[in-house]
Amino acid sequence: MTEPEPETTSEFPPLLRCVDVTVRFGGVIALDRVSLDFRAGEVCGLIGPNGAGKTTLLDAISGITAPSAGQIHFAGADATRRSPTWRARNGIRRTFQRQQCFGWLTAQHNVMTALEWHGGGGGLLADLARSPARLRREKARRQRAAEVLELCGITSVAHLPAARLPLGTARIVELARAIVDRPRMLLLDEPTSGMEEAEVEIFDHAVRAVRSEENCAVVIIEHDVGLVMRMSDRVVALDLGRVLADGTPTEVRSHPEVVAAYFGR
Ligand SMILES: Nc1ncnc2c1ncn2[C@@H]1O[C@H](COP(=O)(O)OP(=O)(O)OP(=O)(O)O)[C@@H](O)[C@H]1O
Ligand SMILES: [Mg+2]
Repeated sequence: MTEPEPETTSEFPPLLRCVDVTVRFGGVIALDRVSLDFRAGEVCGLIGPNGAGKTTLLDAISGITAPSAGQIHFAGADATRRSPTWRARNGIRRTFQRQQCFGWLTAQHNVMTALEWHGGGGGLLADLARSPARLRREKARRQRAAEVLELCGITSVAHLPAARLPLGTARIVELARAIVDRPRMLLLDEPTSGMEEAEVEIFDHAVRAVRSEENCAVVIIEHDVGLVMRMSDRVVALDLGRVLADGTPTEVRSHPEVVAAYFGR
């Protein structure tokens, strides 16, 4: 029996548009005129062989790498030249291919760092006077962090420094940090590498929750084809910087060029 296809979310307008995005590193063309739309409420799996340009695409969307040509539009605004900070503050959050927790901070504080940019309100004076408004904000932040730690199943390790956590748990902390500020777009670069099976289940559950509660657009780079096909509404396959296929999991899995470039190797 074949699994039913996840419901399509094409009724949502594109939240982010890549238009002919090209990224060159010297003579290497990492992305070659990539045009893709990502919609709110849609989980998009991004697959492709090593060096296909997957991470470069997330770097271009999150502002870490400036495209050599092409444009990136986010929520109707031209974001092509916007800084990574602008993009993060406007709701584009990500995790990295290599785990990037702050090792000396506890899991809870790692998560709370993503909320710090909102500020405490009232400046130094409010800080010194311990103003009620300041304390209320601080409490709200702790509550939000606690909620996300719980969603991600890491409440019991919240007080431990991230450096003392196993890799899979640290990966979950990264996910919690990426979702705590209610992102509009969540970019995940090989998020399950190093996770145990039970952690992958928690990851799957948390991503589904953020997708449905925040109507978030999610892009997941994932080498576990079974997982990506199960989690995604849509799958995009890249090879040599180009879009090879873009469609439902079933369409992409049976696409001849994808089979040759990805599954066939
Ligand atoms: N900073 C850089 N300088 C030079 N070349 C780079 C740089 N970053 C990426 N590349 C090259 O761009 C191409 C795409 O790399 P990218 O990391 O995006 O691939 P990927 O699909 O994420 O691969 P993997 O599955 O191995 O993570 C590769 O040929 C890579 O060597
Ligand atoms: Mg990569």
